[in-house]
Amino acid sequence: MQAATARAGANIALVKYWGKRDARLNLPAAGSISITLADLETRTTVSPLPDLADDELLLDGQPASAGRIVPVLDRFRALSGCDLRCRVETSNSFPTGAGLASSASGFAALVVAADTAFGTGLDLARLSEQARLGSGSAARSIFGGFVEMAAGCRVDGHDAVAHPLLEAAEWPLEVVVAITEAGPKSVSSTNGMNLTMSTSPYYSAWVDSVPADLDRARRAVVAKDFGVLAEVAEASALKMHASALAAQPGLIYWNPATVACLHAVRALRDAGTGVFFTVDAGPQVKAVCLPGQGARVADRLADVDGVVQVMESRLGAGAGVLA
Ligand code: DP6
Repeated sequence: MQAATARAGANIALVKYWGKRDARLNLPAAGSISITLADLETRTTVSPLPDLADDELLLDGQPASAGRIVPVLDRFRALSGCDLRCRVETSNSFPTGAGLASSASGFAALVVAADTAFGTGLDLARLSEQARLGSGSAARSIFGGFVEMAAGCRVDGHDAVAHPLLEAAEWPLEVVVAITEAGPKSVSSTNGMNLTMSTSPYYSAWVDSVPADLDRARRAVVAKDFGVLAEVAEASALKMHASALAAQPGLIYWNPATVACLHAVRALRDAGTGVFFTVDAGPQVKAVCLPGQGARVADRLADVDGVVQVMESRLGAGAGVLA
């Protein structure tokens, strides 16, 4: 056993995952399509140590609860036959828990580091499965560029894994993240989607609508058709939030600055800039831009009232071990 360090980029869904067909195995009710970011990343070191009684987690240098990572490490212990507990040190290059997919890059980096630390040698599909067991969206951060996550139909979930659609270099879109609130989100994705599933009258309509969006978005990615991708992605985000708004009690993830950013993105597009928006389970707005247009979009969103920070990222590679 050896210490190992891995990195993984955050990912942003263009066709959203919002609801599970199995909560224990984190199996999604429908597929999703995402882009993996280069510049918003998690780095994680897993050190199996003989003198530890329990797994320990240091998040951005601070001791944190190891609750969600212990089951992930347990599976690598079972696969390798090595029972050592681990010290896990992880840091994010962006605000943790603010709707910026830190669980996605976090679990992807964790499983890739654990795979090397425990010498299990899993292939990418099995790494994606292990990441999914930590967090559904993490299955996608194993891969770079444009990625599709399959809903799968098996009860054991072996087929609910991600696969790459297009390399980042093939269509180097740019992403601008407008942060409208720096604190952690009010209702986690897990709790938000569970509440939506159990109480929203629009939940089944949402799930039924996803396969057609996946088909359109997949074709748009392969054809590099920005206009169609913009239409599908904005509609998917708005439908996801519509289903959540109709939950009981309704989930209002947006603040006034979120809405102002959505209007600013639409105004930019009407004026000829290649840009569309998406929003996850939080108040931040992600603007996806044609190559070369990110800086202009970042300048405009930085001027929106209530935007506290703007981050820019290129698309990037999948998770990997660092030397
Ligand atoms: C709105 O992957 O965070 O970002 O599987 O319960 O850990 P769990 O949820 P998570 O949900 C992500 C939801 C989303 C949309 C998306 O990334 O597809």
